[in-house]
This record gives sequence, C-alpha cells and structure tokens, in this order.
Amino acid sequence: MCGIVGYIGHRNAIPIVIEGIKRLEYRGYDSSGVAVIGSENTLGLFRRQGKVIELERSLPAPSKSAGNVAIAHTRWATHGEPSERNAHPHTNCEKTLAVAHNGIIENFKALRDRLEAEGCVFASETDTEVLPHLIGFFRQKGLDLTEAVRETLQLVDGTYGIAVVDTEQPDRIVAARKGSPLILGIGDDEFFVTSDVSAIIIHTKKVIYLEDREIVTVRRDGFEISTLDNISVEGKVSIVEWDVSSIDKGPYKHFMLKEIFEQPESVANAFRGRIADSLSTARLGGLGLPPQELRRIKQIQIIACGTSWHAGLIGSYIIEDIARVPVRVEYAGEYRYRNPIIPEDTLVLVISQSGETADTLAALREARARGVRVLGLTNVVGSTIARETDGGVYIHAGAEIGVASTKAFTSQVTVLTLLAVLLGRMRHLSPLEGAEILNELKHIPDKIQTILDMNVEIRAIAASMVDDRNALYLGRGVHYPVALEGALKLKEISYIHAEGYPAAEMKHGPIALIDKEMPVVAIAMRDALYDKIVSNLQEVKARHGRLITIVDGLDDQIEALSDHTLCIPATLPTLQPLLSVIPLQLLAYHVADLRNMNVDQPRNLAKSVTVE
Ligand code: F6R
Repeated sequence: MCGIVGYIGHRNAIPIVIEGIKRLEYRGYDSSGVAVIGSENTLGLFRRQGKVIELERSLPAPSKSAGNVAIAHTRWATHGEPSERNAHPHTNCEKTLAVAHNGIIENFKALRDRLEAEGCVFASETDTEVLPHLIGFFRQKGLDLTEAVRETLQLVDGTYGIAVVDTEQPDRIVAARKGSPLILGIGDDEFFVTSDVSAIIIHTKKVIYLEDREIVTVRRDGFEISTLDNISVEGKVSIVEWDVSSIDKGPYKHFMLKEIFEQPESVANAFRGRIADSLSTARLGGLGLPPQELRRIKQIQIIACGTSWHAGLIGSYIIEDIARVPVRVEYAGEYRYRNPIIPEDTLVLVISQSGETADTLAALREARARGVRVLGLTNVVGSTIARETDGGVYIHAGAEIGVASTKAFTSQVTVLTLLAVLLGRMRHLSPLEGAEILNELKHIPDKIQTILDMNVEIRAIAASMVDDRNALYLGRGVHYPVALEGALKLKEISYIHAEGYPAAEMKHGPIALIDKEMPVVAIAMRDALYDKIVSNLQEVKARHGRLITIVDGLDDQIEALSDHTLCIPATLPTLQPLLSVIPLQLLAYHVADLRNMNVDQPRNLAKSVTVE
C-alpha cells in the first residue's frame, strides 16, 4: 500500500526518487520521506507529513542534498499515526543506515522489547523501526550490509518489501521482499528498486520481479540476487509492456475520469485475440487447462475483494446462466480463515486487479495448499498473484492509477464473460448462441462510447446529489452486483453513505429509510424482470424517494416515476453489466468532483491493499 523507490547510478538521486514516489502517491499518502547518501558519505534524511509535494518543498537546495544513492517512501499508516516521526525511512540509533519498508512486522513488539532492553532508543511508534536497529546491531558485529539484512530478516515474522542504504557501505542499496512486491529496474549504468513499476518506467522497462525471500544487492556496476538462505539466484529479466502515456493524466482532470473514458479500448483489449469465430467460442490459452479438464469442472469458487469481488459476482450470474456450472463467490478475507470446503473437480479462480491484495493472496495459497488448481485474473503482469497461480488470464486494462477501480472492473467482467462462453460451449451452449454473445461483445466498446458521450447529462444528475448524505442503489439479477459496485464507487470517493441492494430486498428493511431526502439509483433494463423492478420503483415513489433510473428503453411508466432517467444502448442481458455500470462510475465521479473531493486519492484508501 505504501510505495518505495530507490536509485543508484551517476545522476542526482533525489529528484528521481521523489518523482518516483509522486507516481506512487495513489498507493498510500499520509507522509513521505527520503534518505540520501551525500558526497561525504553522510546520511541526509528528510521526512514530512502529508503529500509528497510537502516533502519536496521542504528539501534543502540541491547542493546540500546531492548524492547518487537514495531511497524514498510514501506511507499509508498502519502502526503509529501519520506524522513526521513515523514517516519512513527509519534509521538506527547512530543514524548510519536507513530503511524504507512496506508491509507489517508482526513480531515487532517482542523485537522492540528486546532491543530496548539492550539500550536501543526508538524514535517512532512504527513496527518498521526494529529493522534499522537490528541491521545496525548485525553491522556492529562485522557483517556486511547484505548479511546484516539477511540475519535481520531471519528474525522477522510478517511481510516486507524493504530498501536499505548505509553510509558505511555507500556504494549499494540492499533490498528484499516477502509478501510485498519489490522490483529491480535495470538502466544503463544505473539501477532502481521499487514496489511498483509505474514509478520507474519513464527510466527503464527492463525489470526483475523479485520473489518472496529474495535479497538483492545493487551497486552502480551490477547486482546479485540470493535467497534468505544464501542461495544465489539468476533473476529473470522481463520487459514491462505498459506505455509511458498510461501513467499520465493527459487532458483529463483526474486519472479516474481518464480511466472511465478508456473503457471502449480497455474492454476491446480484454477480448482482442480471444474470440475464435470459427468455433463460436473463446480462446483463453493462459488458463493452461486442456479441454478435457475444463469439461470436468463441476464447481467454481471465485475469490476476491472489493470491486473485484463485484466483478466475480457478476461472473457467477453469467457463468451459471451460460455454462450451467455452479459458482460460489467468496470474500478472500473470509475464505482464508474459514476452513473452506473445496469438493473434487472444483476450479478456484482468484480475481485481483493489482495481483498483490494480501487477503486474496492468502486465500490463493490456502486453496493451493489443499492441492487445488487455482487460476487468476489479474491486471498487473509479474504481480505476486499472477506468479503464484497455476494459470490465468491477464485482463490487459493497462495501468489503473485512480484508487477507485473502473476500467479494471469492466475488463474483469469481459474476461469472465469469455470464460462463461468457453465453458458453456463445452456443455449446453449451441454454436449459434455462442456466436450471438461473442458478436455482440464486439459492439460493446462502441456502446460504452455512446454512454460516455452522455457525460454532461450525467454531471447534471450528479449535481442533484451533491448535498445528499445517503443513497440507495437497486438492481435485480445480474444488476444487483452492478448496484453494489455503483454504491461502492459513490461512497469511496464522495464519502456519501451508499448501499446496494437487490431491488426485491428493499421492502425487507431498507424501505424504512426512504423519504424525499433519499436518492434511489435503480437499474431497470427491459429484461425478464422489468415489470418486477418497476413495481419496486413504485414503492420508492409512493414514499417520495427521488428516483434516478438507468434504462435501455424509455416508456411512459418509467418517465413518470423517475426524477432523472438515463437511456443507455440495449444489448444482450448477459452483457448489460458492461454498460449499466458506466453511468454509475460517471455519477460517482461527478458527485465527488462537484463536492471538491480528492477523487484519485480518497481518504484512508490505497490502491493495493497489501496488509491484512
Ligand atoms: C474499489 C477498489 C477496491 C479493490 C480491492 C481489491 O474501487 O478498487 O475495492 O477492488 O481492494 O483490489 P484488487 O483487485 O487489486 O485485489
């Protein structure tokens, strides 16, 4: 959730690492700091509460902070409030070395008690600070920096991605990971370490994704990777495919808006090359499962968190409908601890945009430990989940920077639809039915564009919700998870309390909340359940609720009931969520923007939740 960037080379390091952590601000942003090895081999340490810009403003003139080796960190507080003294990097008592850390040291209390008993004075409330003190302790015993880090990490329980600099071995950065991502960037006579490639791709696209329990020692002229048990490792070089433009806002006010508008392209990227027209089916080679095994699947368990969980829930409706394979959708945080039953011939599918979510990763490991084949749907190539699954599909949404997930969601739903068609065609789905879905899928990008063209209209509707304190989202069938997603989008970026409900459930409790203060956003498509949802809307209107309806065809009844109506293009029922969610994303965006909220970096949230 926090971000790390380190640089070693011949250039002035501070501007490079500061620029890098600015790009990672979307991950965690309550404080930041930088440690630089100065020309006299002194440690320059600068930290600030608040945005990286505050840190940048507080830095001394380049002549006083120049150096070619630096590590920087942007923090999302876990242990200890957001403050300057809790900001990273942290140092040992002698201030000879500094550590930036992502993750949580679970046994920090016991380690801290031991260190304090030996006279160590702590300067922060963080769990991280035990690391520099322990490394310093081993350095005093004569170990070199890499060995001191190795010894320290043997004592630590928990998760970490760390980067360490030491004034007494000023020619290197030592970095290591376990359960928190860490990447080595390889430039020309310069190297980078980072927790997220987007921080460094303006400098290099050549990277090595470190594995858990690996340590890298990086010098200006090369690097060595070894395991915690001191076995030397080659390290596989990968080339990052992201375009540099994907980490720029372009003409858009916020990344979230840019990413919403990228959906015609990102959805097309999710299905491009994956439709086998001649057989009216989908081609998902990354699954790595022969057709015979795909046919044998008797049940699917989908595991995810947040928006990815909503995509999974939509997937369950579509897969059950098209392929007639039972699907259970589980919150990863629940699954990992509740001793799940995984019957024979179950396929476990984990969904994670970032590929780093701690709960999802733990659930995947639990399922694999039981000998089950686990497939993954991820966006980030080389992410931990992508590497630890037995196979899977990349959604190819491109970098998603806005904390509120938008384009990753529609790409996940697109790939789940392909999976449903693939499984369906091996069971009951006829070639004609398969072709109908796949052909219509090809029209979805244009239909999304038609909805994006209603942006001004949607902003006007958003203006009617700016002062609201609550909102209710209703949908039936496959639109129930869309309602959940719409409500999540609104609450996370505008801080208006919102709930999503299956429309029929409203009368079992939430109806008590409805009065003229309550906006109700309802998805009312002309499908088999249309009449049912219209009845639900009558119930809202009868209690003076304000109705905003998303429809795919206007009629007098809906117009008479609604305060605002948005008519979006019609499509097959299976594909409707890919369209009905778009106005909800835009609605949430505009409400938050009109309330002057920090849309891309909502309070308390981080892009990838790498702690439990
Ligand atoms: C909401 C949002 C989160 C994530 C969740 C899982 O807009 O982005 O709810 O969906 O934290 O993240 P991933 O998909 O990276 O595992």
